[in-house]
Order: sequence, then structure tokens, then C-alpha cells
Amino acid sequence: MDTPTTVVILAAGLGTRMKSKRAKVLHEVGGKSLLAHVVASAQQIASPENIVVVVGYQAEEVRKAVPVPGLVFVHQAEQKGTGHALMVAAEELARREGLLLILYGDCPMIRAETLAGLVQAQSQADDQTAGTMLTALMEDPTGYGRVLRDSHGRVTGIVEQRAATSEQLQIREANMGLYCFRMDLFLNYLGKIRPDNPAREYYLTDVVQLLACAGYRIETVQVEDPREVLGINNRLELAAIDRYFRERKVTELMLDGVTIEKPETVTVDAEVRIGPDTVIEPFARILGGTRIGENCRIGSCSIIRDSELGDSVEVGAFTWINTSRLENNCRVGPYARLRMENHLAAGAQVGNFVELKKTVLGAGSKAQHLAYLGDATIGTGVNIGAGTITCNYDGQKKYPSCIADGAFVGSNSTLVAPLEIGPNSYIAAGSVITDPVPADALALGRERQVVKQDWARKRRERKFS
Ligand code: UD1
Ligand code: CA
Repeated sequence: MDTPTTVVILAAGLGTRMKSKRAKVLHEVGGKSLLAHVVASAQQIASPENIVVVVGYQAEEVRKAVPVPGLVFVHQAEQKGTGHALMVAAEELARREGLLLILYGDCPMIRAETLAGLVQAQSQADDQTAGTMLTALMEDPTGYGRVLRDSHGRVTGIVEQRAATSEQLQIREANMGLYCFRMDLFLNYLGKIRPDNPAREYYLTDVVQLLACAGYRIETVQVEDPREVLGINNRLELAAIDRYFRERKVTELMLDGVTIEKPETVTVDAEVRIGPDTVIEPFARILGGTRIGENCRIGSCSIIRDSELGDSVEVGAFTWINTSRLENNCRVGPYARLRMENHLAAGAQVGNFVELKKTVLGAGSKAQHLAYLGDATIGTGVNIGAGTITCNYDGQKKYPSCIADGAFVGSNSTLVAPLEIGPNSYIAAGSVITDPVPADALALGRERQVVKQDWARKRRERKFS
């Protein structure tokens, strides 16, 4: 883009209609805050140094939601309207020239292509065109400002829902809250707006009217799908946009070669990446920064968050995987819980009702049934029998367990940490193991069985005589 462009994103408001203690722009769609979506789109057309975010309500939290180095923040201590937000930023803007692109932080679906189109339209317009704004023809524009035009079709202003006459309310062309202005003209006329409306607010939209009155032209660019530019004001709209967002995400994935069964039931967050020929079963939730390789299968109702799965990984139904890394060909679940920070090397297997916490499971090792493995480092080719428990906590501290390559842990073993089990050793089923087990040894930690001959028969005969 030839003309220098500065982006301003308004994100200082509380968002009364959300009925929330959290600032509106912190609410999430697609697992990402509204503001983070808008900043991400803005970043595709401007460098962070040219993006100014106006913050106010819960300013600290809002800043933290967009940890992009170089981003410029301006503080609007009191929120006296969208126009006032720009006045607060005026000092920062006065040092810049070219074009000013204004976005609202509650409009998360906006695509960079649409922003670029708006900027391009304005940069190609003549000198008399002070700005270009994004509008949409809506079935139901309730809540939006309406675009007013004269008999020649020229924009003369924007009227807010609350101030509109019943005639103006019939107008279906709505203001989407995205504008590209000539910086110099905008700043000149911004100072002239007055809070002469029932809400006693400075309306940014009044700048449009002032520029039109002064003889400048305001052009419009219409978006095809108004859903892209919907501003979120309440939780119904939040849910609707979230649904739309998820639809768009699974559509992209399917077009990129991922099979998704009953896609309307699947939840995939914005940043998730999934390789081709992977199959996602109904009701799966794939969240946060999760990466999934090719040719995997993700079972029904599984939840995977901030995790990395290699290729050909199979996740059975109802499995929970959190902040864990699974290499190629692993199989987990159904009904497994990889609670946090686990690492499964290639071909490792974790079966039903097994919980892992901060555990490394070496290549080809298996824990197939009913086990708890916490703070454990397990080598390659290890078999963990059904019901094995690492006792990693004594009520005060956590202790590690090490189970070396080729060890065989019999069913229902209780491994009291800290503990070292040597390579290729055997643990007898039902043992309580408290001491180190050397390589190639058999460790038994249980009472020897007693057999009382004829005990049962004698008891029976006593009872019936
Ligand atoms: C605004 C427009 C309306 C348009 C609609 C599109 C005005 C006066 N009206 O109405 O024409 O159809 O957006 O979604 O501009 N904000 C601040 N500081 C403030 C007030 C607001 O930063 O003092 C921020 C809010 O955090 C929000 C954005 O500006 O992200 C829009 O504010 P909001 O109150 O939602 O405006 P609308 O009433 O929806
Ligand atoms: Ca709004």
C-alpha cells in the first residue's frame, strides 16, 4: 500500500449490554478474545507501530489480551462515546499522515481482505472524498446506525437507532463501524462534534455528517455477507458469531483435506492446525494452540487443548488431552485423561481409564487399563499393568518415579515414589514397591498366599448339621 495507513481500534467501552464484569472485548469467539481477532486482521495490513488501540475499561487486562510487541495503546479514562475515543487518540494521530482506518474492537469476524479493500477504495478516490465507510444491507438492522443519503444518493450522515425517526428506521443500509478517512480532514472535523444527543456522548458518526455538510464526499463499500462485520453487543450475538466462526473454521479445514463427521457438532478454535486425511468424529472439541498431524483419528466427544499430535495418532472417544505431546502412531483412549505436560513417544499406547500427569511414556510403551502415572519417566517397551498406581505425593511433596526400558509392571502394583525400577525387571502383580528394583530382577512386595485344604467343605457341613 502506497499511502501510509494508521489503524485505530476502539476497545475502551465496558459493553453494558453484555451484563458482565469483564470488558466486552475480552469475551471470546473461536477461543480468542474479540479484540485479538480484530488486531490479527489489522496486523495483516499495518505494522504494530501503526496500530493504535484505545483502551479504558479494564485497560490492563485488555492490553494483556493482545501481547503484540510494538502495538500503541492510548488510554481513554472516561468513556464518553466513540467520537471521544478518537479525540483521546488525536494527539497520537496528529503526528501521522496519510489514511486513518477506524475499527471497533467488538467486530471480530472482519477479514484483512475487506480492510484492504476499504483502504484501497479510499486511496483511489479523488481529493473531495473525505472518507469511505463500510456498510451492509441488512434484513434486520436493529441496533445499528442507519446511513442517510440525499436524492442523488450521496451520504449525508448516520443516524443512531435511538435517535432515528420511524421513517429512518426503515432504512436497511447500516453503518458497520469501519471507516477509512483522510487523516488531515478527519482530525480537522473531529474537534467540531458535540455531545448533543440523548446519551450525551460524542458520536464518531457525527464526523461523517460534518464532512458531508462541508461539501466533502463520503463513499461507501458494501460488504456481501453482513455476518463478517457484525458488532457484538450481547451474549446472543456472541453465541451467533461464535457459531458462524466455527462454521467457517471447519469449512476451511474440510477444504484443506480434513474429514469432519457432522461438522456442526465439532468445536475447533481459531489457531488450531490439522493435517490432511485426519478424521474428526462428532462432538470433538479441539482447542487453543493444538496442532494435529496427518492421518489421525480424533474420537467422538474428545477434548484436546494446547497439545501437539504427530501423524497417524488415534484418539479414542471421550478422551481428554491437555498440554501434551504425542508422537507418531500413538494410541490413546477411549476414556483416557492426559492431564498436563505429558510426552508420549512414537507408538506409545494409553488405554481406558488411565490418567497421566507430567509423565513421559517411551516409544512403544503401554498402559492400557485403569492406571495413574504421575511425575513418571518411563522408558521404551515398558508394560504398565492394569491398576498400576504411582504414589507420587505424600501430602506435602511430589516425588518422581523412573521405570527403565523393557520393565514389566504387573497388574495392581503400587509404586511408592521416589522410586527407580531397573531395565528389563519384573514387578509381581499386586506388589507394593518401596525400594529400588535392580535390572533384570523380579520384585515381589506382597504376602505369600495361604491355602487351607477342605476349609470350605467343613464350614458347609457345620452349618447344615
Ligand atoms: C456503533 C456506531 C453505529 C454502528 C455500530 C456498528 C457510533 C456512535 N455508533 O454503535 O453507527 O452501526 O457501532 O457496530 O459510533 N468505545 C470506546 N470508547 C467509548 C465508546 C465506545 O472505545 O467511549 C468502543 C467500544 O469498546 C466498542 C466500540 O467502541 O468496541 C463500539 O462501541 P458501541 O458502544 O458498541 O457502539 P454501538 O452502539 O454498537
Ligand atoms: Ca457495537
